Amino acid sequence: MRKNIVAGNWKMNKTLQEGVELATELRDLLSNVKPNCEVVIGVPFTHLVTVSALLHGSVIAVAAENCADKASGAYTGEVSAAMVKSTGAEYCIIGHSERRLYYGETYAILKEKTLLALNNGLKPIFCIGELKEEREAGCQNDVVKAQLEGSLFNLTEDEFTQIALAYEPVWAIGTGLTATSDQAQAMHAFIRQLIAEKYGQPTADNTSILYGGSCNAGNAKELFSKPDVDGGLIGGASLKSQEFKAIIDAF
Ligand code: 13P
Repeated sequence: MRKNIVAGNWKMNKTLQEGVELATELRDLLSNVKPNCEVVIGVPFTHLVTVSALLHGSVIAVAAENCADKASGAYTGEVSAAMVKSTGAEYCIIGHSERRLYYGETYAILKEKTLLALNNGLKPIFCIGELKEEREAGCQNDVVKAQLEGSLFNLTEDEFTQIALAYEPVWAIGTGLTATSDQAQAMHAFIRQLIAEKYGQPTADNTSILYGGSCNAGNAKELFSKPDVDGGLIGGASLKSQEFKAIIDAF
């Protein structure tokens, strides 16, 4: 059966020294604990080597927050999936709405990034979700379907089984406007149905679908109690070790 996952996304926060401090705190908080979920932290590229080494042998896995859509070569400033993998990171967040909105990442670009991540042995955490206007217009299902079809449904079944999805309604990110657990459940069930139609029910049942968007220690338990919510992708609340630990403890 599918795994429950609590993943942090630090975004562009924490210097290397601050990040080391936070990762160390989290490692120590979890040192005598066997969490009922997989624990991942997504950290800036500059932190990957150090934080991966620090967490080696702990229950916490490391994710990059992005990777390039090209394999290698003259792409100044980019970081390839192979480079990410070589740091010791296991996961790669792909398609975050902030990448789509602020850096022009299209379905086609995200399709390339996903393939490169998979080909380099990284597990993608692929983000999807609608804007506020799209929810208000009632077309959130169409938006999410187009995101899946545009970037992921080219994958083989074998490849798709390596993917975790994160449903992150953009209106809920960093706003305190968490989706209700019923809204999350409805969308997660819809996503799972789309996967079942494309890849069959067993693959759909094995796909972890995380919720992201103002998920915190106060609402995680309610969200995670829903049958199709398999964990969370946590922004702000992943920057405080005690609060992130409390979200992990919601499982
Ligand atoms: P917040 O938890 O800060 O709303 O961010 C969610 C998110 O974007 C995680 O990727």
